[in-house]
Amino acid sequence: MKRRQFFTGSLAAGVGLWAARHVPAAETATTLKTGDAKMTFQQPPLPFEMNAMKPFLSEEQLKYHYGKHHAAYFKNLNGLVEGKPEAGMSLREVVVQSTGPVFNNAAQAWNHSFYWDCLSPQGGGEPQGDLAAALQRDFGSFAAFQKAMSEAAVKLFGSGWAWLAADKAGKLEIMPLGNADTPLKHAKEPVLTIDVWEHAYYIDFRNERPKYVEAFWKAANWEFAGKCYAAVK
Ligand SMILES: [Fe+2]
Repeated sequence: MKRRQFFTGSLAAGVGLWAARHVPAAETATTLKTGDAKMTFQQPPLPFEMNAMKPFLSEEQLKYHYGKHHAAYFKNLNGLVEGKPEAGMSLREVVVQSTGPVFNNAAQAWNHSFYWDCLSPQGGGEPQGDLAAALQRDFGSFAAFQKAMSEAAVKLFGSGWAWLAADKAGKLEIMPLGNADTPLKHAKEPVLTIDVWEHAYYIDFRNERPKYVEAFWKAANWEFAGKCYAAVK
């Protein structure tokens, strides 16, 4: 399967494979040649077109976020691990095992790949099935979960991520984590995330993080989140 097809040819199938394997294409350490640059870890393509998320996110916003910020984490990581044992690991393994600059760049590379999959031009609404039941069980209702996750995202001081994550038993929790931190570092599985680094929303929303978080829900990819949750148990 070609890489592009994996992410966009059949989104549902791609998401299913992604969640089931817990190893997106970006996580497989394969040494590729891109021009003269040796790319151990390769940034996966966006799972949607650059102009597909309007009005939530503009093409300009995505060009900077995906094309500059996310790409830079991969570039930096590849420079840091060249010739080192991490170059032979999956990206997920590097995230779990590393510290310092290698962790920061590996986690940001992984986190953003996960974030793109949490967005869909056909997103919004509410989850179905086991995830819907688990949200009701652990938060009282979908509305209560959404309110708590929004508050966590808005109140997180500085840069970071608001995560919905599950433990191995399937219990859900909201984890507001700073900078590059990720549930993977806490033995939890990510189910959904909101990037609240300012670079995620500044072009479209300026300083108004609450408006960005509110708009996120209209693009939330519950199909992907549901498959991530199904793969936990
Ligand atoms: Fe970001």
